[in-house]
Amino acid sequence: MIPQKTVQEILETAKIEEVVQDYVNLKRRGSNMIGLCPFHNEKTPSFTVSPTKNLFKCFGCGKGGDPARFIMEHEHLGFPDALKQLAGKYRIEIEEKEMTPEFAAEQQERESLFIVNEFAKTFYQDQLLNTDIGKSVGLSYFKERGFREETIKKFGLGFAPNQRGEFTTKATQMGYKPEYLEKLGLTKNGRDFFWNRVMFTIHNLSGKPIAFAGRILQKDVKAPKYINSPETDIYSKSKILYGAYFAKRDIRKQDECILVEGYTDVISLHQAGIENVVASSGTSLTEGQILLIKRFTPNIKILYDGDAAGIKAALRGLDLVLEKDMNVKVVLLPDGEDPDSYLQNAGATAFKEYIDQQAKDFILFKTDLLLSEVGNDPVKRAGLVRDIVDSIARVPDPFKRAFYVKECARVMELEEEVLISETNKVVKKILQKREFDRNRKRGPQVNIVPEGSPTDGGKSKVEIVPPIESPNKEMGRDEFQERDIARLLIAFGGEIFDEEEEITVAEYILSNIEEVLDDFDNKEYQDIVKKCLDRVVSKQTLSAQYFIGHTDHTLSALSIDLLHSPYEYSDGWGERELYLHSQKMPEENFSKDSTSALMRFKLKKIIRLCEKNQQQLVDLKAENDSNKIMRLLKVQAKLNDLRNGLAKELGTVILK
Ligand code: UTP
Ligand code: MN
Repeated sequence: MIPQKTVQEILETAKIEEVVQDYVNLKRRGSNMIGLCPFHNEKTPSFTVSPTKNLFKCFGCGKGGDPARFIMEHEHLGFPDALKQLAGKYRIEIEEKEMTPEFAAEQQERESLFIVNEFAKTFYQDQLLNTDIGKSVGLSYFKERGFREETIKKFGLGFAPNQRGEFTTKATQMGYKPEYLEKLGLTKNGRDFFWNRVMFTIHNLSGKPIAFAGRILQKDVKAPKYINSPETDIYSKSKILYGAYFAKRDIRKQDECILVEGYTDVISLHQAGIENVVASSGTSLTEGQILLIKRFTPNIKILYDGDAAGIKAALRGLDLVLEKDMNVKVVLLPDGEDPDSYLQNAGATAFKEYIDQQAKDFILFKTDLLLSEVGNDPVKRAGLVRDIVDSIARVPDPFKRAFYVKECARVMELEEEVLISETNKVVKKILQKREFDRNRKRGPQVNIVPEGSPTDGGKSKVEIVPPIESPNKEMGRDEFQERDIARLLIAFGGEIFDEEEEITVAEYILSNIEEVLDDFDNKEYQDIVKKCLDRVVSKQTLSAQYFIGHTDHTLSALSIDLLHSPYEYSDGWGERELYLHSQKMPEENFSKDSTSALMRFKLKKIIRLCEKNQQQLVDLKAENDSNKIMRLLKVQAKLNDLRNGLAKELGTVILK
């Protein structure tokens, strides 16, 4: 039992945003913070944290509560254990009963497994640091590899002794259940599983030992280099990354995660001050691991060994990362080196410089690499195009796709049109498949609200889901862009766009489109935009509620329609342009969204002017008036510049 006084102290000390940020990447929005909910799979953040109320709440799945509740949900712990974890974080001491074998047996199995692992970690550490054999064999090995004592302690490195009974005997003497020892893979058929190996502790995100890996010391034996704990209730290989607990803070700080392959790579880099690094432990990335990284950052830099196997690995599995809308960079290390060896050889400064300079965008890297392989063989070249197009099509952000198409076309010396139409075909296929899967999952248009969601008071209920909207075929040429502008103004017009300059989204957008305010194709959208302008000019506030509750019923209906409409541009862009079908919801980041919506809008208007101008040129050719033609050509050049500038900006903004 934890004394009530201590409970109080813990609850008063724990800050919700600090607790949540150990697991979820949060962004500020007004006085709240938002992020991707860790309790259900979502692409659009609906998980909100209120520092002032000291509460979290997910509007997607309905979970909510205080810091203790968050830990309970996230770590699947009971209230007392959640408190213990918080107490650990905030260094609050709890007077606890001594850990007797009987007490251990009473605990939940999960909790027991952690305790047993904690014991094993201490055992292996003790063997390494305090026994003769451990020191002469294990510790000297780690030191030879350049690991300092503080690093060795921090990462929980250890040594499993030669005799195949020491661990199991000691653990049993201490009262740890053989059943748990076997379950955790520490003991196999009554004997030590790890023996005569140096040990690596694998921690979960909150720093608890969940598994071990043992590395062999002899060079020329047939036994595997590493042996690892089996999967258990507390260790799921595909969902953890080695080093994540030690890296998470720095990953968030650097807004980038460095991914390596091996345990020793993580430790080495960490020791050299590069702390935002985790390891996939020799396998290709799983979806669970990608989502784990994504909680902290969308940017991932992968370091590969510079040999043939490393290069192959670089191409494998990464399409999955692209699909999750992450920015992937690849660094190929010099031939024969892995991150650890290269760092030890080159030194920290040269190493950092190297990875900064050599980092290449994954798709461009892949294109270069495959291109150098195929030479001039036309059949192989066709295969290459298909391969690249397949990667590009997986990128959810249409503007990134546009950028890749342009760059890859250039590198492959292909007509952009060819690549565009090939990419569009694959994108359409992917979307169709997704739609199909979604419909199949959905069944006959009814949906069960998840249990415990805010609308149902804890009970399940059936809700009618509206059929999927078909894109409006009647739309005018620029209407998709205009509609997007209107939608943004309604949804986020009153939000702060730039805190330093203290301007709102509405002020930002409106000041940028003033010249074309009378030039909308769709008069309804124009009307909304002008109403916003009136309010901004007269210093009245803007909110979605203003439009939804407007006495003009057409306006209010249109607003609701806009707010609920899917985020689609595809049909508005015609055949030549890239299929713009975003799978992302705009709320994810409304300032980035406004910026790119605005650029799209401008780009569209400029393309329009280009075409007009060109038509005039064609008409003029007949007249043979060289002065007029010269003038129009100049205008044309200017417009082209503008257009290219904007397109480029869209590319760079997106790639950042
Ligand atoms: P490496 O062979 O690159 O090992 O495997 P390493 O981490 O660089 O180790 P050192 O530097 O030789 O000591 C990369 C990762 O693949 C997994 C481990 O996670 C390892 O860190 N692996 C490798 C295994 O699980 N089992 C093996 O037998 C080999
Ligand atoms: Mn290595």
